[in-house]
Amino acid sequence: MIFHDSGSIKVFAPATVANVVCGFDILGFAVDTPGDEVIARFTDKRSVTLKAIHGDDGILPLDPEKNTVSAVVINYLKKTGETGQGVELELFKKMPVGSGMGSSAASTVAGLFAINTLYDNRLPYNELLLLAMEGERLACGQGHADNVSPALLGGFALIRSYDPLDVIRLPVPKGLVCSLIHPHIEVQTREARRIIRKQIPLKDAVIQWGNVAGFISGLYQEDYDLIGRSMQDIIIEPVRSILIPDFYVLKQKALNAGALGFGISGSGPAVFALSRDEQTAHEITNIVKRHFQSQDIGSDSYVSFINKEGPRII
Ligand code: HSE
Repeated sequence: MIFHDSGSIKVFAPATVANVVCGFDILGFAVDTPGDEVIARFTDKRSVTLKAIHGDDGILPLDPEKNTVSAVVINYLKKTGETGQGVELELFKKMPVGSGMGSSAASTVAGLFAINTLYDNRLPYNELLLLAMEGERLACGQGHADNVSPALLGGFALIRSYDPLDVIRLPVPKGLVCSLIHPHIEVQTREARRIIRKQIPLKDAVIQWGNVAGFISGLYQEDYDLIGRSMQDIIIEPVRSILIPDFYVLKQKALNAGALGFGISGSGPAVFALSRDEQTAHEITNIVKRHFQSQDIGSDSYVSFINKEGPRII
């Protein structure tokens, strides 16, 4: 807490995989790497300023009202009645923007965790989550919680209810490893949300909630086969997969290489796999990268354990 005493702090918050295939808008988990970093410091000015954004190629807005990281800090100060306090923020993007890996959530959570630490943890996590969801609304038009919850709480998170917000932390089976591959194609969350069906037949809902329940049981029982066979989505994936070239070819290759399950990370274009060991996770990552390469699509990739702690002071 040395940083806190000096009125300045640097925080890391992790990338996240939302939906986890079967749990659209209600399941997500955090990974150890990548993640974003934010420096927050008190200033004599009476406003929130965004000093600089590094690593975003100039994509993100510097206007404090428009950037999620500063917008949530402004809302934090309003909520706590500290509107007279000046805060300067600096954002270090350490992951691609618009990737489906919870980029906006990582920045938002890093900003909120930083300001809350400077204020001696004045707001509890459930209040921070509500503020973070507002940040998601600003970033993509909808305040979903399946990136911000695991980014803030670490591990796997279940959004049992949105109204009232009820987020449950789920256990992390030992040795679960995530492969994340971000192909260099553009998929906007707004668009990826617009194209999905708004109504589903009851028989599809039955299959889907069976898989959600199976996945969660698998986490509790550390039953990797159950986790794997529950990673199926008959509602969202068939629609969104058209945005990712050769999605089902990639999925089959990943499963053949030993993935427990494979799917779209959040709204894409990143794809992910869960595996039981690091070697398998690396193999899957290489297979998927090579396939994208064969289509002249470059990609970034990460192999990571599940992040259990959420944001941290660095
Ligand atoms: N659950 C959200 C979606 C996550 O799939 O649209 C966005 O990253």
